[in-house]
Amino acid sequence: MPEANGKGKRGLFLSMEGPDGAGKTTQASLLKERLENLGLEVVLTREPGGTLIGEEIRKILLNPDFQEMTVACEILLYSAARAQLVSQCIYPSLRQGFIIISDRYLDSNIVYQGFAGGEKLEIINKINMWATAQLLPDVTFLLDIDAEYGLLRLQRKGTGGANWRGDRMEQKELEFHHKVRQGFLQLASLDPGRFFVIPAGDEPEVVHEKIWGKMQELLGKNPLLFLREP
Ligand SMILES: Nc1ncnc2c1ncn2[C@@H]1O[C@H](COP(=O)(O)OP(=O)(O)O)[C@@H](O)[C@H]1O
Ligand SMILES: [Mg+2]
Repeated sequence: MPEANGKGKRGLFLSMEGPDGAGKTTQASLLKERLENLGLEVVLTREPGGTLIGEEIRKILLNPDFQEMTVACEILLYSAARAQLVSQCIYPSLRQGFIIISDRYLDSNIVYQGFAGGEKLEIINKINMWATAQLLPDVTFLLDIDAEYGLLRLQRKGTGGANWRGDRMEQKELEFHHKVRQGFLQLASLDPGRFFVIPAGDEPEVVHEKIWGKMQELLGKNPLLFLREP
């Protein structure tokens, strides 16, 4: 179990959130590259997954054959993968002063299984405050996009084209994806200190520049990132 949020932590924990096809994976990798160009050490991870155990859990969660999976089962599996990720990867990296970028984190769980899936938000929160020892990102970039447009992007070339079927979550009906977008926006409005809502309909480079503007502010506020012990 990691220590409670804050103790012994010197790095910076960033998460990318948003509906399917918003550009989270694309932007996480652009941000990593830009930070590394400054000589900073960056750990890129993803949810569900990021550890050997988590990647196995991911296969179960996203398998389109498992249509019978209950929301409770989903919450517990996502949270189990997250517990492992925090303990094995995120927390140790933060203690070493690294910048962690997580492609999705707890907010996705709250939005997909809570706002869109119908489970009480408090239950998901409670399980995760235990599973993660209360570790929340310092900053969450919410890539906001119309749900339908996001799904359209995924269907385009490079991700399967006309044969695209999507994973088990991507296959949910459009109404579900609309609830996902609204859920993210609601979470962001409840915690404006952590969330930065980035309109994600523009070209990748334009979206990246918006994220980079915020990053420069954050790096300026966290000189420790430049003063890591060898
Ligand atoms: N800003 C953008 N404009 C157009 N297409 C994009 C943009 N960002 C990503 N894409 C493309 O859309 C698809 C989904 O992007 P991805 O980064 O995988 O989204 P996510 O991780 O949020 O599901 C990919 O094929 C990607 O190349
Ligand atoms: Mg992705």
